[in-house]
Amino acid sequence: MKILLTGSSGYLGTALLRHIPAQRPEWDLHITLFSIVPSDEMTNAHHLDLCNPQSVARVMDKVQPDVIIHTAALNSGDARAMYETNASGSGYLAREAAKQRARLIHLSSDVIFDGRRGNYNEDDAPNPITPYAVSKADAEKNVQASGADAVLVRTSLIYGFKPLDPRTRSVLRGEMPTLFTDELRCPIWVDNLCEALIELAEMEYRGALHVAGTQALSRYEFGMKLVNALNGDPSLISAATSRSGSLTRPLDCTLDVSRAQSMLRTKLMSVDEMLEKNKKIG
Ligand SMILES: NC(=O)c1ccc[n+]([C@@H]2O[C@H](COP(=O)([O-])OP(=O)(O)OC[C@H]3O[C@@H](n4cnc5c(N)ncnc54)[C@H](OP(=O)(O)O)[C@@H]3O)[C@@H](O)[C@H]2O)c1
Repeated sequence: MKILLTGSSGYLGTALLRHIPAQRPEWDLHITLFSIVPSDEMTNAHHLDLCNPQSVARVMDKVQPDVIIHTAALNSGDARAMYETNASGSGYLAREAAKQRARLIHLSSDVIFDGRRGNYNEDDAPNPITPYAVSKADAEKNVQASGADAVLVRTSLIYGFKPLDPRTRSVLRGEMPTLFTDELRCPIWVDNLCEALIELAEMEYRGALHVAGTQALSRYEFGMKLVNALNGDPSLISAATSRSGSLTRPLDCTLDVSRAQSMLRTKLMSVDEMLEKNKKIG
């Protein structure tokens, strides 16, 4: 099976670059890079700019993958650039996937929901309230409109220790001194997510699927658990409420993962389970 992994230099992409060869050594893995232009010796690496439809078509024509795991995205910054990368770029990729009958595992986000209610399932209607969320929600619409054989994997905060995810690194360094007590998420350990994505690549399921951790935590509770597990300094963090800030942000984006849990062999885990397991490994 030929796999195209987009965003291979990102946090999730880098983890998949470890997991895919380890779990499926028989897969012919091709990767895309954006900021770094691959050298000629890197025969399985391809330069991809999602904002450029010709670049997307060129990579797809060259690789002709059976499955695409699409992790590439712009997760912060300028609203227009996020829209072009995430919404338009995912649409270009999905249209090429549909033409070639390639399966598309598309990474989406819990923040496509407005966060007013929480415990969202796959039948709940997205209602994005930030520019990033709009770009990810419209990415989903574009993927669905393409007719590609696609799974929209809605996930939550991705964390891991080896290497540390960028958010946890910032918390430990004291670069995120306040964490919100009223923004709830279902964080997922990066290895747990990789295992589920690899499994989904080989399945026939199409449509939205919530793949996140099984424990709902506020950003503050989550941050404190990580700081304690990693022997960080808890005095670097203080609690605040998102509601009292000036930005409009989705509060409770917790996901109901029961569909994924009933379909997948991969057992989705809670933060407490992962920290316990990691302690034993360490
Ligand atoms: N991290 C989370 O907590 C979280 C939560 C929910 C959903 N997600 C979703 O999960 C996926 C992976 O997230 P992540 O944290 O691994 O992201 P990340 O670390 O920020 O990596 C993003 C990747 O996308 C690439 N990229 C950016 N702009 C591009 C463009 N115009 N064309 C092609 N590639 C481009 C980047 O390449 P360069 O390195 O060269 O810039 C990088 O490899 C994303 O779809 C994200 O929306 C993440």
